[in-house]
Amino acid sequence: MDKDDFGDDFLWGTTISAFQNEGAALKDGKKASIWDTFTANTDNVNNSDQIGEATAFYTNFAKDIASARELGLKIFRFSLSWSRIIPNGTGEINKKGIEFYHNVIDCCLENELIPYVTLYHWDLPQSVEDKGGWINRESITWFTNYVEVCINNFGSKVSNWIVMNEPMTFVGLGYFMGYHAPKRKGIVSFMKAAHHVVMSIAEGGRVIRRFQSNANIGIALSCSYIKPINKLPKNVRAAKRMEAMLNRFFLEPLLGLGYPCDAIPTLNTIRAYFKDGDNEKMAFDFDFIGIQYYFRVIAKHSLNPPILFANEVHPTQRKANLNAMNLDVFPKGVYKLLKFYSKYPQIKQIIISESGVCYPDHKVNNHVYDARRLQYHKSMLKQVLKAKQRGIKVSGYFVWTLVDNFEWREGFEPRFGLIHTDFETQERTIKHSGLWFKKFLNT
Ligand code: BGC
Repeated sequence: MDKDDFGDDFLWGTTISAFQNEGAALKDGKKASIWDTFTANTDNVNNSDQIGEATAFYTNFAKDIASARELGLKIFRFSLSWSRIIPNGTGEINKKGIEFYHNVIDCCLENELIPYVTLYHWDLPQSVEDKGGWINRESITWFTNYVEVCINNFGSKVSNWIVMNEPMTFVGLGYFMGYHAPKRKGIVSFMKAAHHVVMSIAEGGRVIRRFQSNANIGIALSCSYIKPINKLPKNVRAAKRMEAMLNRFFLEPLLGLGYPCDAIPTLNTIRAYFKDGDNEKMAFDFDFIGIQYYFRVIAKHSLNPPILFANEVHPTQRKANLNAMNLDVFPKGVYKLLKFYSKYPQIKQIIISESGVCYPDHKVNNHVYDARRLQYHKSMLKQVLKAKQRGIKVSGYFVWTLVDNFEWREGFEPRFGLIHTDFETQERTIKHSGLWFKKFLNT
């Protein structure tokens, strides 16, 4: 496998997010997001880790961006923190926040890295959550106002936008299971939040298009390769429902196909939260779809949870290639997913907008050995290349992530970076996987 096999215009990138990297949670006018609130309670986080300054991107961004360039990457994807830009979620704009992101964008451009800017990576302003967060239909207006502020301020320098990151993850874990911020639970809260998020994504896309007609607009969706545990029809049907939930639920309404009620008829209840015109307004003509695949799911029929009537056979209970978060790592799945998504005629381009794995690393003096991560990226890339060679329009691979960072509820333990972070000193060491990319991309 050679870099040239992917073609000259293949987008080699890396990606980080505001909450996981910036630090400076309450500095220069920024106010709390739901993740600041959530992680302030140590009971919510693995090992009671405190995020502190995270990877100090707020002060050290220039170094990290320069390292991305050193590795030979061409794309730098990062997210904007809504509560740094509009601290109360609505109303007054924080000049210091705008200035910070201008500096980050300028630094990318000086390093010849193209910025891909995610407008929302889970860190809802706490003041928006206090008004009901995504459950409140007004969130559509609040979000689109925020998007407008971003485009007006950064649109002269940025033309690649990802409206939101992994809606199924933040709505599923945050509004159905109560596992992530803001810890809401239950089907009603899930349905309302999900519908308002779909509407916000489509409306957000339209705002960008209105202010910047040449923008390249995408959405980043989580997905899983799903297989039934065996061929029994009830398990095959369970896997189909799981697929509808994890791989189709947010995509299809955005493509104009509505929610996947064919597989899960009870999803029709979401219509209770529709207003006139929503059917049309849910859709947006994206330039690209980002897919983010971290694990395989083996599905079986189950009475719980209701509506889905499917559950996963936990990877620890079967033969699986487990990562440090006990997720089943299965690179061949990415090819199958690329095939699955390429069947939607509405999808123009696919980017692997995140790909990464967490394993413990071995640091000896100035070397960080991470053979399993390196193997993972090579295997993933082989599958992506196979898809590309078979005519699937996959045009980029963004590594999650540049430097080890704060993994949400799991704290600092799971490390995904190409570059090792010493969280005490903020010292960085390029791992062997990072050195491999450097060689691969620079030759
Ligand atoms: C998220 C990242 C996260 C990564 C690894 C993705 O779901 O977008 O924020 O760190 O997975 O778990």
